[in-house]
Amino acid sequence: MSNMGAGFRPATTDDWMALRAEVLELFTPGAPIDEVTLFAGRQSQIQKLRDTLVSKGRHAVVFGEKGVGKTSIVSIFHLGVTRTSRVHRIYVQCSKRDEYKDIWIKAFKRIKFIIDGNEIFGDLVNSNPQSPDDVEMVLSYFGQNDIPVIIFDEFDRVVSEDAKALMSETIKHLSNAPIPGIIILVGVAGSVPQLISHHHSISRTLVQVEMPRMTVDELRELVTSRLQRTPLKISDDALWRITHLASGLPFYAHALGQAAALVAVEGKTLNITESTVEKAIPRCFADLDQSLIDAYVKATVETRKGNIFKQVLAACALAEQDDLGRFAAADVETTLTEIMGREMKAPAFSFHLNDLCTSERGLILEKTGTRSHFRFRFREPMMQPFVIIKSLSTEVIDLDQLQRFGPSRQRSLGI
Ligand SMILES: Nc1ncnc2c1ncn2[C@@H]1O[C@H](COP(=O)(O)OP(=O)(O)OP(=O)(O)O)[C@@H](O)[C@H]1O
Ligand SMILES: [Mg+2]
Repeated sequence: MSNMGAGFRPATTDDWMALRAEVLELFTPGAPIDEVTLFAGRQSQIQKLRDTLVSKGRHAVVFGEKGVGKTSIVSIFHLGVTRTSRVHRIYVQCSKRDEYKDIWIKAFKRIKFIIDGNEIFGDLVNSNPQSPDDVEMVLSYFGQNDIPVIIFDEFDRVVSEDAKALMSETIKHLSNAPIPGIIILVGVAGSVPQLISHHHSISRTLVQVEMPRMTVDELRELVTSRLQRTPLKISDDALWRITHLASGLPFYAHALGQAAALVAVEGKTLNITESTVEKAIPRCFADLDQSLIDAYVKATVETRKGNIFKQVLAACALAEQDDLGRFAAADVETTLTEIMGREMKAPAFSFHLNDLCTSERGLILEKTGTRSHFRFRFREPMMQPFVIIKSLSTEVIDLDQLQRFGPSRQRSLGI
């Protein structure tokens, strides 16, 4: 990646085009990070993963909501560590129908050993790993100075209970075996037991790396570290807007940061202000999954003139939430009263909340708990910031309301 630096002053059309290309390359709303200098924050999580490289018999599990940066962290944590040459990163994506054997064959396909000048690549592909011992035998080909780091991404997609139980056993087995090798399981989950079975028996050997949403400071770093590689400048207000709208999800910081930078560049200015961000908002919708946009339309469609689904949904997105993103009808009262400009008590909108949990309204919310203590949450984490951004751009809410109720806190997942 080129680095034009803060000193670059675009003068010609070609210069502006080069700056535009740089912005498109630096912000990556659609792809995981693979360069350590472009990865913002997450110091404690990186350290935990790096520690597994030097401590014997340790493996790791990385878990968190969709889109928080799990694939990115497992792609970069080993880079820049001294003696990384010994680390062999083997990356596997799991899928729904995978059994234990399929998962390990995918890993073995990605390993190539040269022993006495002979490649033994093919043998591994044709191997038939059925047990932890079979895996140990293959990994024993690595020298004592090598560290194979085998990453099983999207492990939560694996349905087979057998596969999950055998994987737990493998982790236990390998931590007692005299061979190198680290297994990292990655998945969307609220807790580790959701990801693997028989978790209790391996808790001592399994380092738990929880990925909460990113803090406002981490998101600031994400945006500013990219802009610093260009001559573009961003005002504090503009940065505030981007980092608060992102609600801790790095995707939105990339999408909004990139769109704002492109609006500036196309207007041939090097300054990103709050009004630049405002102009950029409709543009960042283009990077979003269409299903998200469709679900919002379905949830807020006017079946009767003047219905208040848009306002209720906006009030939910701004409502105070617990660590798992859940809120009660009572939490929505405050924000909805503010949005409607008149007192709104739960009985006036409980019908709307329940309706938003049905397929007619796109299953946008889900309901948990018991009758005396119902809680709601957005089924898809990416939806909450979208609702806020959309509500702001369609004037269902205003900036002042965002500032007073907005999602500035960091959520932890709570195991
Ligand atoms: N620490 C970070 N610094 C900068 N950008 C990040 C960081 N973490 C994640 N991103 C960006 O956030 C987006 C989501 O990241 P990633 O794909 O790693 O998340 P994930 O948790 O694996 O998502 P999924 O659950 O959908 O697999 C990507 O655009 C990525 O570039
Ligand atoms: Mg991922």
